[in-house]
Amino acid sequence: MQRDEVIPILDFGSQYAQLIARRVREKGVYSELVRPDISADDLRKLNPVGIILSGGPSSVYEPNAPRCDPKLFDLGVPVLGICYGMQIGAQILGGEVHPAKAREYGRAKLKVTSDDPLVRGLPQDTTVWMSHGDQVKDLPPEFIALATTPTCPYAAARHATRPFYGVQFHPEVTHTPRGDQVFANFLYEICRARGNWTMGNFVEEAVGRIRRQVGTKKVICGLSGGVDSSVTAALLQKAIGEQLVCIFVDNGLLRKNERELVERTFRDHFHINLITSDATDPFLTELKGVTDPQQKRKVIGREFIEAFKREAAKIDGAAFLAQGTLYPDVIESGHGYAGTAANIKLHHNVGGLPEELGFELVEPLRELFKDEVRKVGEVLGLPENLVWRHPFPGPGLAVRVIGEVTPERLRVLRDADEIVLEELVANGLYRKTSQVFAALLPIGTVGVMGDARSYDSVVAIRAVESQDFMTADWARIPFDVLATMSNRIINEVRGVNRVVYDISSKPPATIEWE
Ligand code: XMP
Repeated sequence: MQRDEVIPILDFGSQYAQLIARRVREKGVYSELVRPDISADDLRKLNPVGIILSGGPSSVYEPNAPRCDPKLFDLGVPVLGICYGMQIGAQILGGEVHPAKAREYGRAKLKVTSDDPLVRGLPQDTTVWMSHGDQVKDLPPEFIALATTPTCPYAAARHATRPFYGVQFHPEVTHTPRGDQVFANFLYEICRARGNWTMGNFVEEAVGRIRRQVGTKKVICGLSGGVDSSVTAALLQKAIGEQLVCIFVDNGLLRKNERELVERTFRDHFHINLITSDATDPFLTELKGVTDPQQKRKVIGREFIEAFKREAAKIDGAAFLAQGTLYPDVIESGHGYAGTAANIKLHHNVGGLPEELGFELVEPLRELFKDEVRKVGEVLGLPENLVWRHPFPGPGLAVRVIGEVTPERLRVLRDADEIVLEELVANGLYRKTSQVFAALLPIGTVGVMGDARSYDSVVAIRAVESQDFMTADWARIPFDVLATMSNRIINEVRGVNRVVYDISSKPPATIEWE
C-alpha cells in the first residue's frame, strides 16, 4: 500500500532491523523493511521521504556480500546508513573503504565534532553501541566526519554534497542512550518528515481499508482474550459493526474468570455479536491420559478447529476470517518485505482454519508491532486490563499443568495462578513484568500441616522480563512479595504444600514449563 510518508529500511540481515523500524515509527513516521536488493524504481513507488540502510553480519569486502541498487542514491531522498549500511553507501559513493585494524565491539565513547543536523542536540560526549567487526578507517575524500570514537575516526559521517549520512554505531539499541535524537534529526531535520504516523490515524485508515475489503459480507473473528485478537475484534466492530461475528472457544484451559472478562468486555461493553462455544468437555475428554506436551498441543489444535468449525457453520454467509497477525509474524514468514508478494503466515493458534473453511483473511494489524497494537487498543477504548495483558499461550493452562491435565489439577493451578496475579497487581508489578504465571509440577512432595504429614503438589512461580519473548530474564520480584504469594498459595489452595520460584533465563530455559 502506498503511503504519503514512509521510510523503507533495506534489511541487510541485521538482528536489529525490526528495531530500527520501531524506533522510526515511535518518532511518528511509518517505516517498513524491504529487501536489500529492491530496485530504485520499486523504492520510488513506495514514496519514501528517506531511506535507511540497516546493518548486517557481512563484510563489504566479501565477494557475495549483499548489495543495494546504486541508483537509490539518485532518488533525491536522504539516506542513512547504519553500520554495514554506512559502509556499503560509502563504497558506492566514494570507492574504496578500508577496514579498521582495531575492531570495536560494545560500548564506545562518542565525541561529536560537528554541528551537522544529524548529530545536532547530542551532548559532545556520549555513549554509543558498536557491534560490527569492520569499521571504516578512512573514508573517501568526499566524506566529512561528524563524530569519532577513540578507534573510529568516522563514527558518524556525511557525504559533502549528497544527502547520504552514515553512523558506524547502532542508534536503535537502548545501549545508545541518545540514539533517538539521531533518528529525530534524520527524520525531521534532514528528511523534513511531517510525522503523521499516529495510532489515531491508523485506526481511521484501517477502518476504511476493512470496509473496502469486506463490502457488505460477514466476517468471523476468533477471539481468544489476548491483546491481538481483542484489538482486531474492536477494530472490526468499529469498521463493520453488525457484519462481525466473534467466536470465543472456551476450551476449559482458561485462567480463572477469563471467560467472564471476555464476555463482559465484548458482549456487554462493545455490543459485539459474540458466540461462546463451551467446548470444555471435548477438550478435557481428549486430553485424558495425555502427558506428552507435543501430543497435548496436537489434541488442542485439532479440537480447536473442530469447535471453531462447529460454530462457524452456524453463521450464514460468512466470507472472511479476521486474524490478529502482527508485523513480526509477517516478516518472520520471510514474505513480509514490501515489493514482494504478500504471503500469509497462519497464526499458530488458528493454523489451518482459512483453508479448511474457505475464508478470505482480514488481517488489519499486519503492519503493526505489538506496542502499536496496544496503543490502537487504547485508542479504541479497550479496558486497560485487556490492552496491557501479559501473553497467554493458545493451548492455555495445558502447557502449565505439567503431566496429565485433569479437572482437579486445573482447579489447583487456577487457584494458585489467581493468587500470583492478585499479588502482582496489588504490588504494582504487573506492568513492570512481561509475563507471570504459576505452573503445576507433576510431583508430590512431603510437608507438615498441623501435626500431620502431607503429600501434596508443588507450584512453580514463573515471572520474566522480556522485550520480544525470544529471550527473557527472570524477574527480580521482591522477596516479600514472593513470600506473600507462597504463603497464600499454601494456605488457600487445597492440594499444594510447596512453592518454588523459577530463576532460569531464556535461553536456555523457555518461558513456559510445558
Ligand atoms: P516459550 O515457552 O517458547 O514461549 O519461551 C515464548 C512465548 O510464547 C508463548 N507461547 C505461545 N503462544 N501459542 C501462543 O499463542 C502457543 O502455542 C504458545 N506457546 C508458547 C509463551 O507464553 C511465551 O509468551
